[in-house]
Amino acid sequence: MDSSASRRVGVVGAGYVGLTSAACLAHLGHRVTCVDVDERKVEQLRRGVVSIEEPGLAELVTAGQQHGRLDFRTDLTALGDAELVLLCLPTPSARCGDADLSVVESVLRELTSVLAPGCVLITKSTVPVGTTARAAELLARPDVAIVSNPEFLREGHAVADFLHPDRIVLGTGDPAAARNVAQLYDGLDAPVLTVGTASAELAKYASNAFLAMKVSYVNELAELCERLGADITEVTATMGHDDRIGHAFLAPGPGWGGSCLPKDTSALLNGASTVGMDFELLRAAVRANAAQPSRVVEKVRRACGGRLDGVRVGVLGLAFKAGTGDLRDSPALAVTRLLTAEGAVLTGYDPCVPAPGVAEVGDVEVVDDPYVVAKAAEVIVVLTESPQFRALDWDQLATLAERAAVVDARNVLDPGGVVAAGFSHVGIGTGAERRVRTRHSAA
Ligand code: UGA
Repeated sequence: MDSSASRRVGVVGAGYVGLTSAACLAHLGHRVTCVDVDERKVEQLRRGVVSIEEPGLAELVTAGQQHGRLDFRTDLTALGDAELVLLCLPTPSARCGDADLSVVESVLRELTSVLAPGCVLITKSTVPVGTTARAAELLARPDVAIVSNPEFLREGHAVADFLHPDRIVLGTGDPAAARNVAQLYDGLDAPVLTVGTASAELAKYASNAFLAMKVSYVNELAELCERLGADITEVTATMGHDDRIGHAFLAPGPGWGGSCLPKDTSALLNGASTVGMDFELLRAAVRANAAQPSRVVEKVRRACGGRLDGVRVGVLGLAFKAGTGDLRDSPALAVTRLLTAEGAVLTGYDPCVPAPGVAEVGDVEVVDDPYVVAKAAEVIVVLTESPQFRALDWDQLATLAERAAVVDARNVLDPGGVVAAGFSHVGIGTGAERRVRTRHSAA
């Protein structure tokens, strides 16, 4: 990018969206100041220490600082000369299921006296329809245009998703502001869709809710496959070849979770009911998702002969998906909670979750070695799709496990290899359960 296109950009919030946006915009040649209230985080970032697991992010943070294009501060007043300011703030679920906008609102009030005349404010946070319009009221700065520019970054792929987006969405009725924000992304090869503000806000929720429904659909389908004797992998492979459906988001598992899909589906349901609409289809997807962990528990129960009390279970995967250590709303932990409630004794390993001492995992003893998980386990249950689990030495695991049943709730393992090692194997959505005589029971 030539230097004339380099802009002075402020980013508020150094979470995975804010930090990724800041580092990537610096990479694109802009001069970025990223502000976060967390003094410790800011101090670490200044030393190049990135605590979030995001491939390529630490390198971009270091490079941005070395080139003098990326700076971290704790005070919003540092954004006084910014031409564009991105809001990348948390919008967690409030108790009622609505998005809690208190952080966004308090930052807006503070920014009123900080922003330079003619600055453009960009809302990247996922906010309910109407928030951008309300932000304008709260900011009370008619000279500052506000553009909704939702992000579509996946945890664990955030840098790649930022630099290679499928689309850039700009929600505004102000064409000059839209052009201004579009220039920020000049170095990226993606269609820019300029739409109404409400449409941009809704598009983000609509996308996440659609992904959630897709996974709920496939999880229900997996159950049907088991009952009808079909194989979900074969069914989804066939479906995915239809361009209108696509292969993505067709993998069954213990349910969808994380910091986005659960809160966004619930906020969308609430938003719909506020305007008198019962979004029944989405409600059913949420209900199906709530039931999914108990289906996995049932598989574990069956694998160990119908009882769970006192049974030693080894858990592979604790985070809400592979490639992240994020435990928020993790379906894996929903499964482990149900198992411990029935008296099972759990040891868990996740390549991205440090051991020990992770409070969120409850009664699971977290270890840093997958082979320790197998020690004396009667059942091993796989709850994230980490490719590392497939690559484990299943012969070695079989010699460590007491009995040998494997429940692969993500269909990530090679069933043939697992069975050859002496385990019985149960996947998800496969009618044919591989219940061979195990090495131990054969002895
Ligand atoms: C999601 C969206 O994919 C991003 O586009 C969006 O920007 C982000 O939320 C956000 O709103 O910030 P993320 O929360 O990182 O990203 O997680 P996903 O990769 O979407 O996975 C969500 C859940 O669905 C996980 O629990 C995952 O294991 C599950 N899943 C996904 C399946 O069970 N099967 C699949 O085939 C795909």
